[in-house]
Parts: sequence; C-alpha cells; structure tokens
Amino acid sequence: MRLQGKVALVTGAAHRVGKVIALMLAQEGADIVVHYGASADAAQKTAREIEALGRRALLHQADMADWNQAAELGRRALAHFGKVDILINSASSFVPNDYFSTTEADFDKAFDVNVKGPFVLSQVIARAMMDDTGEGVRGNIINIVDEGAFFPWREYVAHGISKAALLALTRAQALNFGPKVRVNAICPGPILKPPDYTEEQWQALRKTNPLRALGTAEQVGEIVLFLLTGPQFINGDCIMLDGGRMWQHQ
Ligand SMILES: NC(=O)c1ccc[n+]([C@@H]2O[C@H](COP(=O)([O-])OP(=O)(O)OC[C@H]3O[C@@H](n4cnc5c(N)ncnc54)[C@H](OP(=O)(O)O)[C@@H]3O)[C@@H](O)[C@H]2O)c1
Repeated sequence: MRLQGKVALVTGAAHRVGKVIALMLAQEGADIVVHYGASADAAQKTAREIEALGRRALLHQADMADWNQAAELGRRALAHFGKVDILINSASSFVPNDYFSTTEADFDKAFDVNVKGPFVLSQVIARAMMDDTGEGVRGNIINIVDEGAFFPWREYVAHGISKAALLALTRAQALNFGPKVRVNAICPGPILKPPDYTEEQWQALRKTNPLRALGTAEQVGEIVLFLLTGPQFINGDCIMLDGGRMWQHQ
C-alpha cells in the first residue's frame, strides 16, 4: 500500500468520481475525509465502505460556495486527524447555460463552487502543509478541472470559464505553495454520464475523440495515484484524460 499513514480530504466524495477517488486512496492505505454537500446518505455509504477497507473516515458537510464553510472543512479535517497530506478538489457545479441566458446567480454558482471553494480550502490546508517542518514535499493538492478549461462550450459557458479559472488557480497554487506542496490538475473529457444526459447523448460523445471511447472514473483515480506516487518533479501541470478529443476539430 503506497499511502499507508496518509490522510486525504476528497471534496464531493459522496458518489460518482469523488467517491471512486476516495475509495482508491483508501485501498492504498489512506484515511479519508469524506466531504459532501447535499448527499448525506450517499456520503455515509462512502464512509462505511472506507471503514470496511480498514481505514478511518471523517464525514463533513459543507457548501463549497460558502467561503467560511469551505475553510471550516479544512480546519475540521486538520483538527480531527492532526494533518492532511492530500487534498483532492473534486466537488463541482455543472449547470448548463448559454451565454445570453446566464444570470448573475448562474455565474456566481459556477465560480463560487469551482473556484472560490477550492481557493479557500486550499489556503487552510496548504498553510498546514507548509508549516510542517519535515523534510521535502509535505503535501499534494490535485484539482479536478475539465477539458472545458481549454476550449469553450456554447452550452456550459459559466462552467467552462470557471474551470479555466481553476486551472489558473492550480498554477498559482504551485507557485505559492512550493517547495513544501505540489499542486497539479486533471482535465477529464467524458468520464461519467451527467444525470441530465440521455444514454444516446452520452454514447454520441464517442464520436468526438479519435479513440471513439469514453473514459472512466477509475482512470481519474489512476491519474491521482500517479501524481501522488509517480515522478515528484511534476508540479503545476495538468494531465488530460480525453481520448485526444482536444485535437479533433471535426
Ligand atoms: N463526469 C464527467 O464526465 C466529468 C468530465 C469532466 C470533468 N469532470 C470533473 O470531475 C469532477 C467530478 O465529476 P462528477 O461528475 O463526479 O461531478 P458531479 O457529480 O457533477 O459533482 C460532484 C459533487 O460536487 C458536489 N457539489 C456540487 N455543488 C456543491 C456545493 N455547493 N457544495 C458542496 N458540494 C457540492 C456534489 O455533492 P453532493 O451531491 O453531496 O451535493 C456532487 O456530488 C468534477 O470536478 C467535474 O467537473 C467530470
């Protein structure tokens, strides 16, 4: 087990991609802070599955759009476990809106959940990592971004530009948190069907990349483990997981 003795905080860990990442980290030996927003029952199930693996789990509800609640999540995790070695910012708002129908509330939601929450949570966690007097890198932060950070979508305008800001935040964090903290991003393409997509719409996305494939949440988890345990010189970077969709223009 490569993460024995480590503590990982995963936001949005009640279900879907965040849950898969949390369980893969637990399988490698990490204790987990299971953050959730509205999905209390699913989060409890995630916590039980982590405990069944022999790891400790702390459940914490927080609205990631709220500066104080996001900061309190970090403080509670540090108070409970005494440290956080790994922070995965996976919670995200994914609300469709084209440019001209976007309201102030839509815009604020995208930026509050996808940028402001990770900004302040990382402020609390990185401060503790940087105060650690041990030798070498003391912590890792991984932001789950989106391929939409690189090319705009007509149907998810606020989401896309908020994810571009999260990628910019990743680079700013790498600059500001070194040398004690490494910060990287993962930019997935189609990984797990959003609830508002039909199966037909979802499968049609195969045509949008040269592999004619879809990704999986487990592949996101594999990249997380690679970034944590692989070459330690990778910092401030983003790994695409999109089947080459970025390079398909027709
Ligand atoms: N699924 C894909 O194919 C795909 C593609 C590209 C990028 N990504 C990125 O990968 C990550 C995980 O994807 P996903 O599909 O699992 O995400 P998701 O289901 O859209 O959202 C993950 C979690 O975010 C939490 N959340 C949303 N608003 C919140 C708020 N205000 N406060 C606290 N938590 C909040 C929700 O937790 P609760 O249910 O507890 O409220 C939700 O379970 C996201 O960052 C996403 O942008 C996913």
